[in-house]
Amino acid sequence: MKSTAVLLAAGQGTRMKSSLPKILHPLAGRPMIQYIFESAAQATSEPPVAVVGFMAEEVRKALGEACRYAVQEEQLGTGHALRQAEPILRGKTGLVLVANGDLPLLTSESLGELVRAQASSLAAFSLLTLLSDQPRGFGRIVRDASGRMMEIVEESQATPEQLGIRELNVGAYCFNAGWLWDALARISLSSSGEYFLTDLVEIAHEAGGEIQGIPVEDPAEALGINTRIHLAEVEAALRTRINRRWMEAGVTMIDPATTYIDAGASLGEDSEIWPNTFVLGDTRIGRDCRIGPNSYILDTRIGDGCTVLASYLEGALLEDEVEIGPFARLRRGAHLANGVHMGNFGEVKNAYLGPATKMGHFSYIGDATIGGQVNIGAGTVTCNYDGKQKYHTEIEEGVFIGSDTMLVAPVRLGRGSSTGAGAVVTRDIPPNTLVAGVPAREIRKLDRDD
Ligand code: UD1
Ligand code: CA
Repeated sequence: MKSTAVLLAAGQGTRMKSSLPKILHPLAGRPMIQYIFESAAQATSEPPVAVVGFMAEEVRKALGEACRYAVQEEQLGTGHALRQAEPILRGKTGLVLVANGDLPLLTSESLGELVRAQASSLAAFSLLTLLSDQPRGFGRIVRDASGRMMEIVEESQATPEQLGIRELNVGAYCFNAGWLWDALARISLSSSGEYFLTDLVEIAHEAGGEIQGIPVEDPAEALGINTRIHLAEVEAALRTRINRRWMEAGVTMIDPATTYIDAGASLGEDSEIWPNTFVLGDTRIGRDCRIGPNSYILDTRIGDGCTVLASYLEGALLEDEVEIGPFARLRRGAHLANGVHMGNFGEVKNAYLGPATKMGHFSYIGDATIGGQVNIGAGTVTCNYDGKQKYHTEIEEGVFIGSDTMLVAPVRLGRGSSTGAGAVVTRDIPPNTLVAGVPAREIRKLDRDD
């Protein structure tokens, strides 16, 4: 039987007190809605439908082409939201899996179980339930004398007695489509001016229909987000889940509690992550690396056997056996080839450092191409900007740059050339030539054969 997921993602999430829709708040580097979207897509056979409304364009951007969209112009409640998907889905699917957009920890396994349970039953619908003493604003499930599900009361509408009910509505449902669409039209407006999806329980019960409760095994999966406090709780739970996955895959974490790996990042076997380290965005780290402590790595590729100590990397590429830090900064377009060593207080931007090149201390290299086996002395600066334009510096293989050299770009240092300490290089240096002074002038030719 065909099954299709509908994600409810039109609300603003007023309890977040934010100009960003709740479901776009990031969790481990991704908009919240992407998590439930992926789990729901995996648990169903057809491409999902998202019901969008508040800041619909931004939500579409976050979910992309893999999703279909229904628009809820006015946010009149979850029941009204689901009705907006009817024109797309009526007659097209046998089962409709509905999930709130603010349940990022629900797994595809749990949603799959919900779909299978409904597929093999005669119930009007099935829903995920949770037994808990911490209701977190969830609707309470009320059962009749014979134990059948009778209604769901929202926290705002519940009597003191009902508030004590421990069986909660998680916010994921699987409907028999043949029953759903007509039933949806029968939901009436609540006293708060909304059409509650959860009223379908009462509607089914009154008609003598059956509703199946499917308990979620792991209560952590049912952590929904209504407030910023919930957001932080879910972020912590998600990070724990991500860290466990990498440890199971062979990564050592000295202190998982202070290790922050985004959902989109990856790590290789036998790499070690030291405390207070952030591996963010689309970062990929190879095998046998030692990363941290105190490092921030965003959208960066790191090969095998690298060491990154207390450093800040963004949009960089490190090949294998590269060693950087403490206190190195790599900006967009920094590319460090095999065996590069970069010590403390260096900055590299939009530049290639060839194999085994060394940059030990206090240097700025921007807009440059540097060959292999180059020694960049302490305090070397590529003067790449004249206030209007950026210029390129080219340093060929085997160059030795003396401490405190200023390389006024555009400039080229020939293979095997050398600069004296404090040189201000304003003109190209021929190969195998020593220059010094301000501005630097030729001192002598070098014998580079030894
Ligand atoms: C809902 C359930 C509650 C359940 C809880 C668990 C209802 C009436 N109540 O309450 O029983 O325990 O979820 O997660 O369904 N949305 C729309 N359009 C709207 C209103 C909401 O698309 O007009 C979307 C929101 O963007 C959100 C989802 O529906 O993703 C749930 O809305 P929310 O306001 O968070 O519902 P709860 O009050 O948590
Ligand atoms: Ca909610």
